[in-house]
Amino acid sequence: MENAIKNYEDVDSWKTIMFLYNSALKEVGTKLEILNDEFQHVHKYNPIEHIKTRVKTPESIVKKLRKNGYEISIENMVKHVNDIAGVRLICSFTSDIYQLGEMIGNQSDLKVLAIKDYIKRPKTSGYKSYHMLVSVPIFLSDSVVDTKVEIQIRTIAMDFWASLEHKIYYKFEGNAPEYISRELRECAEMVSSLDEKMLSLNRAILDCLREQEE
Ligand code: GTP
Ligand code: MG
Repeated sequence: MENAIKNYEDVDSWKTIMFLYNSALKEVGTKLEILNDEFQHVHKYNPIEHIKTRVKTPESIVKKLRKNGYEISIENMVKHVNDIAGVRLICSFTSDIYQLGEMIGNQSDLKVLAIKDYIKRPKTSGYKSYHMLVSVPIFLSDSVVDTKVEIQIRTIAMDFWASLEHKIYYKFEGNAPEYISRELRECAEMVSSLDEKMLSLNRAILDCLREQEE
């Protein structure tokens, strides 16, 4: 970011902006923990396995702006980089994903700006995940600023695939030999059938327990 920051004013607004994104992550993180606790309280079940949050590094913000042909400026970064604040929600079953997505959409102070459902329509890489771009109001002493947060919701199995695929693919900088891409897609299919099996197994177990109770 060094050459992007030209004067003191920019430094100050860079700090202010990163403060906003960090605050937005805190807000959304707390909201999700409350949803999870409420779920545990009502249904005796935790849909969320874990929550990861991160703020994009200045280096990767600059890289993304360059990649998409934008001049490096704070204005462009706020406008065009949607994943500066990112939350990853890892849950147990595919059914939890849509339930969580709906619960997030129902929070009246969050605005859902966009949804990308890579579970219904996986990427050609094989990537599956449910992405929500939301904005959350951050209350400052003299103003309210709507701040964007990207929420990625996926199962443990989808996360396992995405993490390893990212590691493998990254090494090739996008130029992986065709057979590697193909095998990664095959792994994605294996991961999907694992998810389906676990979901139906869980349903069978719940039915079984219900019958025993009756
Ligand atoms: P990015 O420029 O990559 O952020 O893409 P985008 O602005 O079109 O958004 P999209 O919703 O497609 O992807 C956003 C994020 O999803 C990425 O930053 C990754 O974290 C994740 N992602 C998307 N595609 C893949 C993929 O093929 N493999 C892995 N491992 N992750 C992916
Ligand atoms: Mg991204």
